[in-house]
Amino acid sequence: MKNLKQALFSLAVFFYGIGSWGQNYEAQVDSLMKLMTLQEKIGQTVMYGGSWDQTGPIVGTDNGKLIREGNMGGMLNAFTVKGTRDLQKVAVEESRLGIPLLFGYDVIHGHRTIFPINLGMAASWDLNLIEESCRIAAEEASAEGLHWTFSPMVDVSREPRWGRISEGAGEDVFLGSEIAKAYVKGYQGDDLSKSNTILACAKHYVAYGAAQAGRDYHTVNMGEGELRNVFLPPFKATVDAGVETFMSAFNELNGVPTSGNKFTLRDILRGEWDFKGFVVSDYTSINEMVPHGFAKDDKDAARIGMNAGVDMDMMGGVYKDYLKDLVEEGKVSEAYIDDACRRILLAKFKLGLFEDPYRYIDEQREETTKYKPEFLNKAREIAAASSVLLQNKNNALPLSTSTKKIAFIGPLVKDEYDILGNWAAKGDRQGKAVSVFEGISEYLKPNQILYAKGCEILKADTSGFEEAISVSKKADEIVLVMGEGHHMSGEAASRTNLKIPGIQPQLIRKIREANPHKKITLVLMNGRPINLSDEVDFVDAILEVWFPGTMGGAGTADVLFGNYNPSGKLTVTFPRNVGQVPIYYNMKNTGRPIPESNPGEDYKSNYIDAPNSPLFVFGHGLSYTTFTYSNFKLSSNKLTNSGAITASVTITNTGNKDGHEVVQLYVHDKVGSVTRPVRELKGFQKIFLKKGESQTVSFTISADDLKFYNSDMVYGVEPGTFEIAIASSSDFKFENEFELID
Ligand code: NOJ
Repeated sequence: MKNLKQALFSLAVFFYGIGSWGQNYEAQVDSLMKLMTLQEKIGQTVMYGGSWDQTGPIVGTDNGKLIREGNMGGMLNAFTVKGTRDLQKVAVEESRLGIPLLFGYDVIHGHRTIFPINLGMAASWDLNLIEESCRIAAEEASAEGLHWTFSPMVDVSREPRWGRISEGAGEDVFLGSEIAKAYVKGYQGDDLSKSNTILACAKHYVAYGAAQAGRDYHTVNMGEGELRNVFLPPFKATVDAGVETFMSAFNELNGVPTSGNKFTLRDILRGEWDFKGFVVSDYTSINEMVPHGFAKDDKDAARIGMNAGVDMDMMGGVYKDYLKDLVEEGKVSEAYIDDACRRILLAKFKLGLFEDPYRYIDEQREETTKYKPEFLNKAREIAAASSVLLQNKNNALPLSTSTKKIAFIGPLVKDEYDILGNWAAKGDRQGKAVSVFEGISEYLKPNQILYAKGCEILKADTSGFEEAISVSKKADEIVLVMGEGHHMSGEAASRTNLKIPGIQPQLIRKIREANPHKKITLVLMNGRPINLSDEVDFVDAILEVWFPGTMGGAGTADVLFGNYNPSGKLTVTFPRNVGQVPIYYNMKNTGRPIPESNPGEDYKSNYIDAPNSPLFVFGHGLSYTTFTYSNFKLSSNKLTNSGAITASVTITNTGNKDGHEVVQLYVHDKVGSVTRPVRELKGFQKIFLKKGESQTVSFTISADDLKFYNSDMVYGVEPGTFEIAIASSSDFKFENEFELID
């Protein structure tokens, strides 16, 4: 025991019958709670922020006073060994019971070493790499005093206008659920009491990614079937993976804000899923039930939030101000406060904070952990693995190191700032990140490199065009590095226009006009699907690198020069224009689908000014080699409810380079008591094949994989015919079927 307060506390624990620090955390929490006043219990449900960072109004003021009085259980945006030690000392040594604080932060795609944005990492389809990125993030974050990350964001989204699509895994429920589990495993590890593991937080519960018109924080109306079949499963997957915390969301769902939604929080999360961890609100999302028109004032909002099952109030101050009165007035049951407090304390016990509140506070570890060379190497590998080769006409890529002169043009060539993307935690945007220019300089001699910025991302100033065009003319090949600024995706960054922003598209067109026969590659950094309908005609190759992070320029150069064969595949559909949105691969067929035999037939579900198909489909991504799929086999064309069948295919690397392939299994339930999507991803494997090599890839399918919620919200399978395919993207025709029999 480190001090008087803890001595008092341990005595009390002893008095209540627990003699030693064991793993019996529940009993220890109960003992502790017997010592706590109602106000102190409420104190555990209160979270305020340090003044380091903020994403909304800071409501609380005197943190020290609140901590000392036992009126704060957790803090966000407070980190570094020095910062957390000072605050923890107040909690442990100056508050009545010495209960340690919990420090949380948005460690979203890395803490110091920044990995590609989450949508980018998802495009790697590599669960091991994603888990490793989270392991590293947890190492770095915990070395700076942090216990808890507000990640993963597991919101499925089919809304490229929504800026936060960049923070998730894309549009698919199956892939999103697998990735969600990898995040939780990476952050939490197998033992939370280790000083290098942190609590994960599944957010934003729920359906936040379905915001009307893609506008952030906007209304969501959705049938329960869609909610359960598409938007809830990744959250359930995190519960299955042992996630310790959840964050309720900003949006309303069918008229009820999700931070006051008993149905999703108490009935589903606690009732159906038996979630034992705690739920934190989003930043002032409890208070926001007032402008939503769901609570009449802040006090009413506190009542609704706690009764609905939000255990901790992030930044809102309403639990602190009103819960005690609400309990005394009989409007909130004290049992709810006890439950919330118990869950929060339990997390602190699991982290080992009662054994040593300074466990995560160690100067030496802080200094030696950040940006370790092995972390940076992994970030480079993940950046390369996350990039998606969307188009490669005339084999423009890979570039050759013997080309005499290559022009690199665009506002993001030398960028070390935007390359980290949004929510880049404590990633150093000045000096640490490797730009594309630095990356390619590893491959080319200075006299092979020509450079012009050309224009800014957003400004309408064309004065740099002349130089850019003249530079492009002197080169043998041209690489354009363009895209969005990092602030153009993420929270409160919705767009109504999905084009490459500003005058960059004009510059692309002019460079093509000046160089009609040269190979032009477009390297794109962005946080959402972009409308590339014009650019596909002006450039030969398009390499989507998202915002690739600290080592982004190096990883991108590895791909550009063929040192890493691109293997990423889109996890979101890229539309032809914003009018097609929402557009996603697993849509429904409608009663009037366009007939294949007569695509122009009238009165079908189509547009008169654009095809129904997107520009780039879900699962699309090219390689510098080619793969053929042959010899599809089903172990049986009858599947029973308790049995399983195997689908297999032989994949051959028929090109000239070794490479990875993401092999995708799709199923179509042809007839259902509720209509089923035209295809659904049900499995995937990322394999590596040397040139000329073949491998048989198999997937096992059981009735469980085919379950869905029907109109009575019963989860089950229905007998009938299922189409099945193993393919390299979601663009294929089904040629095989099996029957599910009772
Ligand atoms: C608001 C965001 O919606 C959420 O994702 C984030 O974790 C919190 N702010 C804390 O910064």
